[in-house]
Amino acid sequence: MNLNRRKLLSWFGLGWLASMLPSSLIGCSEAQPEASSPIASSESVAAAPSSSFKAIGTIAQLDKEGSLLSADKKVIVIRDPQDAKKVVAVNPTCTHKGCTVQWKSADKAFVCPCHDAEFTASGAVKEGPAKTPLTRYNAKIENGKVLVNA
Ligand code: FES
Repeated sequence: MNLNRRKLLSWFGLGWLASMLPSSLIGCSEAQPEASSPIASSESVAAAPSSSFKAIGTIAQLDKEGSLLSADKKVIVIRDPQDAKKVVAVNPTCTHKGCTVQWKSADKAFVCPCHDAEFTASGAVKEGPAKTPLTRYNAKIENGKVLVNA
């Protein structure tokens, strides 16, 4: 009798373990959601849906003026100094006190007219007083238009 009770308990234990195993495996294999980032590599730019990109202007305007500033002044686009086939988009609001930076192609830098902070083409701080980089956005050229995902 005692032996039968042990057998019965061991079978219940195995049954419980077997029923928990599939849910444990599923819990371990679930994919984590991807974190979003304002800056992405060129691969993720290509993978992003076109619907999230908005036209800032044409490539002809960009080449004529040297930079494109969006109507709401929240995005400035330049040709990538490292690769002229690409464009770079950043938020032109200076991270020091909020003036609007301007692109100086001769210096290959965004320069703030208020206190002379300088940022690289990718938005990194080149010279203070600003300490925080400009926010960078995904940008691309499509059918002669400059598109930005801001
Ligand atoms: S606001 Fe740009 S350097 Fe001060």
